[in-house]
Amino acid sequence: MERLPGFRDFYPEPLPHSDVWSAEARHFVFERWRETARRYAFRQYDGPPLEPLELYTLKSGAEIVGQLYNFTDKGARPVALRPEMTPTLARMIAAHERNYKKPLKWFAIPQLFRYERQQKGRLREHFQFNADLIGDPSPAADAEIIALLIDTLRAFGLTKEDFVVRLSSRNAWGGFFRGHGAKAEDEEPFYQVIDKLEREAPEASAAKLAALGFSSDEVGQFIAAGKPSAELEAVMENLRARGLGDFARVDYHVIRGLAYYTGVVFEAFDLKGDFRAIAGGGRYDNLIKLISGGKVDLPALGFGMGDVVLLELLRARGLLPKFDSQIEAYCLIEDEAYRQASLELVQDLRDQGFAVDYPLAPAKSDKQFKRAVELNAAFTLRLEPSEQGGFMVKVKNLRTHEEKTFDGA
Ligand code: HAM
Repeated sequence: MERLPGFRDFYPEPLPHSDVWSAEARHFVFERWRETARRYAFRQYDGPPLEPLELYTLKSGAEIVGQLYNFTDKGARPVALRPEMTPTLARMIAAHERNYKKPLKWFAIPQLFRYERQQKGRLREHFQFNADLIGDPSPAADAEIIALLIDTLRAFGLTKEDFVVRLSSRNAWGGFFRGHGAKAEDEEPFYQVIDKLEREAPEASAAKLAALGFSSDEVGQFIAAGKPSAELEAVMENLRARGLGDFARVDYHVIRGLAYYTGVVFEAFDLKGDFRAIAGGGRYDNLIKLISGGKVDLPALGFGMGDVVLLELLRARGLLPKFDSQIEAYCLIEDEAYRQASLELVQDLRDQGFAVDYPLAPAKSDKQFKRAVELNAAFTLRLEPSEQGGFMVKVKNLRTHEEKTFDGA
């Protein structure tokens, strides 16, 4: 039985096949994500993987709605597997924001599902580090989130030679759009064309822009001029004060595909241009109001960073450690008369927090020793009879081959 296309199996290393993923590398990535979030004083939250379909049809935009894994459940409810975390977060905030002092700094590591065309860096399931700051409308909040994004990538050993955060603003684009007297209902379709400029054939984009009353020349000039809006200036200044200015630059190619973004938007890319976006995010100041039916009105922004592109990038740059089984001790049971006492010793060590293994069934000594080496044990332990009629524990350091004897019972 094969797994579904676009889904992954995660195995312990060494990996049995090039087509499977490392459960240990995934754990390593999650740990770094959590650790960076902690340094920025973010708290963890989570939500359900299945949500009412309406949560996404409301404001996520046509592209992501077209990629939903949705169905009608046995109670006749239209539901969808979550394709992103932001609507769930907005729903949770709308329900209980009163219990928390603002601003909120929250993070989550959800598994998300999108029925996308499978390609490099894009699967039908991925894990995404989400960090969001709710309740502060200022560029200081934008900069705090972008600094967290930069430091998350730095935590993996990536440098300013490896990646850049491209900053843009839907406010700046909104000014450009309205300056041309275009119709309000064309604003989102216009943003969708801008979002795909770098991925689509220039003629195709030009035709779409013309249909909305824009020439690709004037759009190209606006992007090339790259004049930072006041909010983007403030964000850059804030990042420079932290010594992180070299990790970000204004780039109006970015506008983001999701329909709920309102102000500053950004995407992180590898500088060699070998991979798709590593992360993306921005401000969504109206989403919580929309999802709460107007009851709660809080500004918010955040980003999502997927594990797929990140792992590909870290592997390509040689920044993933080698993962191996690593135990502190392997208890050899060469004489079955000592099995009960050996179990007692193993339990005692495990209670103290050590990683310990032992043979479940009787086995030849050399086989047991081979197993200890395969498991990368630092020490072997062996019970032997003592002169007093009890036993002693022989502890061998497998790196130095030094052996010490301790009194047993
Ligand atoms: P997004 O740009 O759709 O934003 O996704 C963010 C990141 O998730 C991407 O840059 C990419 O690394 C990863 N990603 C997305 N789709 C896939 C896929 N099919 N396969 C592998 N990786 C993928 C959002 O989802 C927003 N909700 C982020 C956000 C949080 N905005 C504000 N707060």
